[in-house]
Amino acid sequence: MRIVPINELELKNQTVLLRCDLNVPLAAGKISDPARIDASLDTIRYAITHGAIAAICSHLGRPKERMPELSLKPVAEYLSAALSHKVALAPDCIGDITGRMISVLKPGEAILLENLRFHPEEEANDRDFAHELARGKTVYVDDAFGVAHRAHASIVGVTRFLTNRGAGLLMMRELEALRSVTENPERPMAAILGGAKVSDKIPLIKHLMERVDTILIGGAMAYTFLRAQDVPVGKSHVEEDQLELARDLLAASGKTGARIVLPRDHVVASVAEAGAQTETVTEIPPSMMGLDIGPETVKDFVAELTRVKTVVWNGPLGFFEIPEFARGTLALGEALAYLEGVRTVIGGGDTAAALSHAPWAARFTHISTGGGATLEYLEGRELPGVKALER
Ligand code: 3PG
Repeated sequence: MRIVPINELELKNQTVLLRCDLNVPLAAGKISDPARIDASLDTIRYAITHGAIAAICSHLGRPKERMPELSLKPVAEYLSAALSHKVALAPDCIGDITGRMISVLKPGEAILLENLRFHPEEEANDRDFAHELARGKTVYVDDAFGVAHRAHASIVGVTRFLTNRGAGLLMMRELEALRSVTENPERPMAAILGGAKVSDKIPLIKHLMERVDTILIGGAMAYTFLRAQDVPVGKSHVEEDQLELARDLLAASGKTGARIVLPRDHVVASVAEAGAQTETVTEIPPSMMGLDIGPETVKDFVAELTRVKTVVWNGPLGFFEIPEFARGTLALGEALAYLEGVRTVIGGGDTAAALSHAPWAARFTHISTGGGATLEYLEGRELPGVKALER
């Protein structure tokens, strides 16, 4: 079984259904971070410069029905500017009007179909809807790694009708980067895990415990691990129902599984708010909560990372949305970016949001565009969108 990359597909004069993940954040109707669109531009360019008619489709947000505020209109405008080529927005992803708009396009032209999720049949992987989406197309290219963990009609169902299919350049890059840290990665290997909840990361931690040498834990979930060792954590967020699991993992640390390293100093405040009075402490006072790793922890983590060849990072190490509590994540990110000879793959979602705008971010081996998809891949799960591409 193999996935055919776009450069092995015959695209000339073909009408290509090009599934992208153009699910970008919007603020007051404007795109606030176009990174995901930018990441698929070279695939779109590749398709049109090789003579395809590109019918680009994507979801945006999680509508259950047509919602004007989740129209892909701003994305069509962004694409038109980025490609220096008019990309019209079809009023729907299926239907006769859209079919007619596609049929008048010439090879080398592109159109964006309206938000797939305006139809609940998309998420239901409805067979008839998938058939409609495929109608009039001759080739299917999937570049939407960020949604590869969803068995939706435009990801899975459509491949039943468009057997001439392959992966876009972004999809290939994502899979290659993730394979490089999961299939025989160069050891020693470390995982940096952060984020708010241990419960969200249980399958990932369990999977990585058996596969990496060191796990560095930060973010709010570190406080559950510290509390499990009876370390005072003040008002920090602790998941009481995960304490036993945390104890089990700590008991296995360095013995039957990877060595877990926890923070030893913390940036604390009495409230998790911008402008809050902060302090750096080694012992969290009862009235304070931990909101970021402290500078000594950054040093510890950097020392660990200088010993490894491969790093995978999932989850920010502090409450990064507030700049006061983003410093630990950024300091570790910067140090890691400049370590020579280390292959580093950064998970998407919050981790990418926290790191990708830094000037040194381009030094990482790869920053994924997938949040949930990357997490599921790293948990060792099969992604339906990847499976559906295999031929
Ligand atoms: C994402 O934002 O992670 C992807 O676009 C998938 O979106 P979803 O979680 O709404 O399926």
